[in-house]
Amino acid sequence: MATTTALPEIHPDLRSFLSKKSHQLLIGGQRVDAASGKTFKTFNPADGEAIAEVAEADKADVDAAVKAARKALEGPWSKMSPVEREKVLHRIADLVEKHADELAQLESLDNGKTIREAKNGDLPLCVALFRYFGGWPTKIHGDTTPVSVPYYPGAKFLHYTVREPVGVVGVIVPWNFPLLMAAERLAPALACGNTVVIKPAEQTPLSALRLGELLLEAGLPEGVVNVVPGFGPTAGAALASHPDVDKITFTGSTEVGREIVKASAGNLKKLSLELGGKSPNIVFADADLEAAAKGMFMGIFYNQGQTCSAGSRVFVERSKFDELVGALAERAKTIRQGPGLDPKTQMGPLVSAEQKKRVLSYVESGKKEGAKILAGGDEAPGKGYFVKPTVFSEVKDSMKIAQEEIFGPVVCVMPFDSPEEVVTRANATPYGLVAGVWTKDIKKAHRLTQSIKAGVIWVNCYQFVDAAAPWGGFKQSGYGREKSELAIEAYTQVKSVWIDLN
Ligand code: NAI
Ligand code: MG
Repeated sequence: MATTTALPEIHPDLRSFLSKKSHQLLIGGQRVDAASGKTFKTFNPADGEAIAEVAEADKADVDAAVKAARKALEGPWSKMSPVEREKVLHRIADLVEKHADELAQLESLDNGKTIREAKNGDLPLCVALFRYFGGWPTKIHGDTTPVSVPYYPGAKFLHYTVREPVGVVGVIVPWNFPLLMAAERLAPALACGNTVVIKPAEQTPLSALRLGELLLEAGLPEGVVNVVPGFGPTAGAALASHPDVDKITFTGSTEVGREIVKASAGNLKKLSLELGGKSPNIVFADADLEAAAKGMFMGIFYNQGQTCSAGSRVFVERSKFDELVGALAERAKTIRQGPGLDPKTQMGPLVSAEQKKRVLSYVESGKKEGAKILAGGDEAPGKGYFVKPTVFSEVKDSMKIAQEEIFGPVVCVMPFDSPEEVVTRANATPYGLVAGVWTKDIKKAHRLTQSIKAGVIWVNCYQFVDAAAPWGGFKQSGYGREKSELAIEAYTQVKSVWIDLN
């Protein structure tokens, strides 16, 4: 459509992908229209124009996808040796790497994120996830166990455990890191021998569909991964409540997370939930202030602030407050905003008109409650969904902007006077996803990492992730852990086998 062809530097493979009249669902290795024949549009957040027409899955399509996943689970996929599964995962990694430029552009176009972040962040991490989990299939094993049976003294048994796949996994991902979130769930799910039905977010369905094509090219058997773009209350809810889905892994709002928990009750699905955050980023006066300033800035403004791990509550020790906060506000004012695809852009648009509206309503609420705007505080001009990077000071902990997840480029900066005080305040939200601590005092750093209630804590750094490091939240930020060896546990179930030797 118009907007995409107007971009001269667009990758030829992406151009050909986008030239499709309509993007179909991927079910059982086949590209098919939705049973209803319905489609929906996906938009370029930089100008609000439609990029593509996508088949809109609903219950009937989710049923078909689950059936295909079940068939593949019991068929070719379970018969593939671990070493063959590793080869497939490595081929996927190689293909994603080979197509990284194209995929980064697609992600930038559909989500709005800057091409720099897509290229240097999302894509290399996707590849790394498939490589890391690609090494696992040959290393997933059970144990032998020295059992003693108190009511049968002297009895002899051989006892062992086996790790088996959970089964059909439903993956529901959000729009902030569409491809990366997909990879983060698909890689361990496949490494453990599961099959998958993935529902990308309605705002950003394209990269999962393109990945689906690459998965087939990599030799993944038909039906092992099925892609069903659609809306939350229809396709998402159908997947979350499906009686033949064994596990759901969900990333998104805490509100929908609760719906997923309810929907899981029918057949008692296993769940991994990665939900919202309101993360504290705490800077002590004795920190490397230059590094801390960068960490504060990047912690909130990366991906336009649309990260679950956004450092959206910055606490600065009072003696350095004016200096650091002034610098943050000045820097925020000079960010170059524009279309994500433009390599000169430092901050892209938000993902959707709805998200822009939501973020601006928080900005209004902050103003009304008496917080002071040091930078931004408004939408940015243009047709796209742009919001100016916004810095609020004179924020009270009880204000809505200090309690609720805004999920946009809006930061609350607050002074503090002692470690005890800042820990109490840092912990005083329903969330507990991540936290940042900046200090050169090693004892203080460790005391804080012990007392902050969060699933991930960064000391003198922020927003670092790796396939090998666990990821997930405390409190209402969710349950279960993604990435790392813990994902292998989360995507397998243990069978305990007793052999009578008496
Ligand atoms: P959302 O939680 O509604 O959407 C996330 C995913 O869940 C999408 O794929 C959506 O289609 C699906 N979904 C929605 N309702 C569903 C249902 N009833 N059953 C099954 N699946 C369903 O997030 P939304 O509306 O896009 O954003 C709202 C807020 O959520 C954001 O402002 C942000 O605060 C938070 N959020 C947090 C994310 C994170 O990474 N933790 C990611 C996206 C949003
Ligand atoms: Mg929603």
